[in-house]
Amino acid sequence: MQRVVLFSALRHSALTARVHSVRLLPSAAMSTLLINQPKYAWLKELGLSEDNNGVYNGTWGGTGEIPAPKRGEIVRQIGDALRRKIKVLGSLVSLEMGKIYVEGVGEVQEYVDVCDYAVGLSRMIGGPVLPSERPGHALIEQWNPVGLVGIITAFNFPVAVYGWNNAIALICGNVCLWIVAEVLEQNNLPGAICSMTCGGADIGTAIAKDERVDLVSFTGSTHVGKQVALMVQERFGRQLLELGGNNAIIVFEDADLNLVVPSALFASVGTAGQRCTTTRRLVTKCNFFFLSIKDESIFRFIVFCTSTLYGPLHTKQAVQQYLAAIEQAKQQGGTLVCGGKVMDRPGNYVEPTIFTGLAHDAPIVHTETFVPILYVIKFKTEEEAFAWNNEVKQGLSSSIFTKDMGRVFRWLGPKGSDCGIVNVNIPTSGAEIGGAFGGEKHTGGGRESGSDSWKQYMRRSTCTINYSKDLPLAQGIKFE
Ligand code: UN1
Repeated sequence: MQRVVLFSALRHSALTARVHSVRLLPSAAMSTLLINQPKYAWLKELGLSEDNNGVYNGTWGGTGEIPAPKRGEIVRQIGDALRRKIKVLGSLVSLEMGKIYVEGVGEVQEYVDVCDYAVGLSRMIGGPVLPSERPGHALIEQWNPVGLVGIITAFNFPVAVYGWNNAIALICGNVCLWIVAEVLEQNNLPGAICSMTCGGADIGTAIAKDERVDLVSFTGSTHVGKQVALMVQERFGRQLLELGGNNAIIVFEDADLNLVVPSALFASVGTAGQRCTTTRRLVTKCNFFFLSIKDESIFRFIVFCTSTLYGPLHTKQAVQQYLAAIEQAKQQGGTLVCGGKVMDRPGNYVEPTIFTGLAHDAPIVHTETFVPILYVIKFKTEEEAFAWNNEVKQGLSSSIFTKDMGRVFRWLGPKGSDCGIVNVNIPTSGAEIGGAFGGEKHTGGGRESGSDSWKQYMRRSTCTINYSKDLPLAQGIKFE
């Protein structure tokens, strides 16, 4: 199931809307709600109760304008509100999604960071004044909000991905829940400008097809992203796609193994392999890694991880996908080095798994399976390793581990990685918010969060103003 967030708005400030309060359960069922169990009393710290405000009723309007720095001030307060509740929000993410507590808190921190970033941006965004070729003319680039933004996010990052979109869209003048609503209301803005809906394909389809939604920001699988893209394109809407990854770490012979091992573990086992930036392919020239696997020290480390740093898969369906991928990897010539089994305990726990012996272009190696399976592949030359990095359909994240500066710049250059995220001596996952986040090819081409991603949430106008008494035409044309 996808989490769907619909937020509107923009050029106008005094938006008005009512929020439904919906009682979903009969009284008898109330006692079974988590919120009524002492263990989950902390949910009340989030302002939650048995009955919670539901979704925005679909009506908004208003007049007036809030300048960008003032919008930034609201986003600053949202960041502060998140900071105050970061631990309980981290617990809520962990409870809902199954990732471990520290990663839950880290995800909320990502929202806090992007709020800080957006506050700064709110005083910097804008276009250049360009030199006009005509006397007495001013050529100005003006950026305005796009309008209504629909954000469709995936289960694996329910807070951070929403946060990237929300903070940047708000400072751009567009309109987005929970604690956020409180800040908005304290500033006399209706909570409805940040409205959330949970649901499945029906809601996603409604957002994608609705002409009133000026920008659809979708995070999820390449398969679903393609359907969304086609629906949005059909109506000439704007889209921002952040789809699948099939990310490789390439380990050269001069790599610092003290960096490689924890990086590969964090990126392949973290979030139980359910990040779009998860390392799925470890392309290595380094025998040490193989030795480590053989003498099982990696395996021991993973077992340690499983007791402290490792959560379950999201659904039973994901467990089935894990088992199917293991079968396919075996059929395609892979050797199971460790893992490969569903754990005998409650929840959707599976063992972190490593395969060796598969061809770099085996179909399973080219498939993104959203589970903790790592394919270790041996290479001989730099050219080969870079080509293998690029030969998959997806183009999200990539890392090399080396001390060779020439190689580093070849990796960053035109013959290097074709991904949106190109790292050196760090994992493929765990990107900061300050850079643009996203990737090429089947990853969809969109960029969220930092750098100049804000431009996607605004529309550009090229404005030419004649303040002279003459009418010179561009390109020197004389029309007389
Ligand atoms: C995702 O998995 O959709 O770079 C987002 C990372 C996180 C974001 C992942 N900052 O791993």
